Amino acid sequence: MSPLSITRILPADATAAALRADVAQGLTRTPKQLPPKWFYDARGSELFEEITRLPEYYPTRAEREILLTRAGHIAAATGAHTLIELGSGSSDKTRHLIAALTELRTYLPVDVSESALTAAGEGLLADHPDLTVQALVADFLQEMTLPPSPGPRLLAFLGGTIGNLLPEERSAFLRSVHGLLSPGDALLLGCDLVKEEATLVAAYDDAQGVTAAFNKNVLQVINRELGGDFDPADFDHVALWNAEHEWIEMRLRARQDLTVKIPGVDLAVSFAAGEEVRTEVSSKFREDGMRAELAASGMELSQWWTDSAERFALSLSVRV
Ligand code: SAH
Ligand code: TRP
Repeated sequence: MSPLSITRILPADATAAALRADVAQGLTRTPKQLPPKWFYDARGSELFEEITRLPEYYPTRAEREILLTRAGHIAAATGAHTLIELGSGSSDKTRHLIAALTELRTYLPVDVSESALTAAGEGLLADHPDLTVQALVADFLQEMTLPPSPGPRLLAFLGGTIGNLLPEERSAFLRSVHGLLSPGDALLLGCDLVKEEATLVAAYDDAQGVTAAFNKNVLQVINRELGGDFDPADFDHVALWNAEHEWIEMRLRARQDLTVKIPGVDLAVSFAAGEEVRTEVSSKFREDGMRAELAASGMELSQWWTDSAERFALSLSVRV
């Protein structure tokens, strides 16, 4: 059985320094905000997996449906020898792709969550003992150098995670994806679609409160890593539709006036009752907009597939 290799591109202390910088900056500006990558410690990755199974959270099931119907086409169109996946998480849906890619030799999953990468890599190798799995602990928003890999390559970015990047981050990200690929390589991109507000809001504010727990997990990460004394019960989970930007915004709203001490960044942060911290956006897309953004980054959209209920889209593009 070929070994699973896990390489940390991010040294552990770089992660800690980045968290300190993000917390110090994000909680002293107005309005307060925190970047979403800090949701995903081991507990956060588990909670996200729970979200994917919620009745209200349709994106995972919709994307799985598309992958199941189109994996054969994707395999034939790309003939990929290497599959790179950014923000791979549990690699659960990716398994449908891996099963279909008959020429596949190397799988390079990239994620900030080392626990998710380890679990996913071990599971995959058990079923595909001949696959080389080289997992990378890295931030896909920073400059990344991937190990050399045999072409043709397919780079997958699934789950609608592209929507969690702000517009400027998104264009820089798509340019860096272009830089990771060679001419003729392919990009498989999953994105959630603009739809009725009630459906969108429910997907990010479920009845069981799993999404609320996921959102509040970022406070526990700050408590653990920076010695903070956040009480998650002092905050309400808020999910709202921003029609101007066509994105869902996740926020944490203080239930009363309060001050939180965060010794790791030497801060006491005050919240007024009702004050909110924006923790994430989840942008929803339309075909024309996505085609234009891809073109602007040197990628040509060749296929646009939706699930049968037209909630979610998977696109296949060629790196020009
Ligand atoms: N692709 C999976 C997981 C989506 S959740 C799916 O479709 O279900 C988003 C994933 O991206 C998580 O595993 C999270 O750890 C990872 N992630 C978020 N921000 C990241 C960043 N800046 N760099 C690398 N990985 C990131
Ligand atoms: N990529 C996922 C999405 O935007 C991440 C996500 C799902 C998420 N539910 C969430 C992030 C709740 C924060 C809070 O759909």
